[in-house]
Amino acid sequence: MVFRFLGTLSQKLLYGVGVTMKPQVVFVLGGPGAGKGTQCSRIVENYNYTHLSAGDLLRAERAREGSEFGLLIDSYIKEGKIVPVEITINLLRKAMEETIQTDEKKFRFLVDGFPRNEDNLQGWTTVMDGKADVKFVLFFDCSNEVCILRCLERGKSSGRTDDNRESLEKRIQTYLQSTRPIIDQYEKQGKVRTVDASRSLDEVFADVKAILDKEG
Ligand code: ADP
Ligand code: C5P
Ligand code: MG
Repeated sequence: MVFRFLGTLSQKLLYGVGVTMKPQVVFVLGGPGAGKGTQCSRIVENYNYTHLSAGDLLRAERAREGSEFGLLIDSYIKEGKIVPVEITINLLRKAMEETIQTDEKKFRFLVDGFPRNEDNLQGWTTVMDGKADVKFVLFFDCSNEVCILRCLERGKSSGRTDDNRESLEKRIQTYLQSTRPIIDQYEKQGKVRTVDASRSLDEVFADVKAILDKEG
């Protein structure tokens, strides 16, 4: 019995079956409407990455029946404020675990819209340090004016409660005051790959491709 077990175990090790890879993460940051989600979809079509948008996960949690956080998330999103990380990190961790459990080859993640402030970053460090590797930050650099125009255009059909001028002013302030300093911190560590996101979708993606082909 023991020998049979050991036999199976050594076979597993030999063939690499049952060995789970540590999640490899690319943080995707940029202003509201910079094109993070759009480019992540293109990446998923062309590379072996799973896209996890913190904003999408929060909107899904807001809509989930019985969620104790629905009202809180709703008000934070309308105000363009960053939801306490305890909520967001749990959603991200669960999504990553579920993805890997479904298919152990899916250990590469684009974590879109996170970490957006110090609280986010601390929460990530507390929960994920040693459990996942952050490879680099993909930064979609875009002027506030272009970001606002894109979100207003998106707002015509998105149904989002924050794609309006009032919320957008607040989201831009949050981005400048809270998110830019996080990008600056990673920049000092040499971990930021910047793309000029004000150009056409294809031009932006050509740069993204060059980065991913180089970084793996
Ligand atoms: P984010 O996830 O950064 O908020 P999205 O990917 O949702 O941004 O894009 C915001 C809006 O701008 C969407 O309506 C999208 O179709 C549009 N968009 C995205 N990238 C570009 C681009 N390079 N040029 C013009 N419009 C774009
Ligand atoms: O990235 P996205 O534009 O979808 O985010 C929408 C909103 O979700 C943000 O303005 C913010 O209120 C909330 N959010 C958050 N924490 C994150 C990501 C998004 O609170 N890490
Ligand atoms: Mg998005």
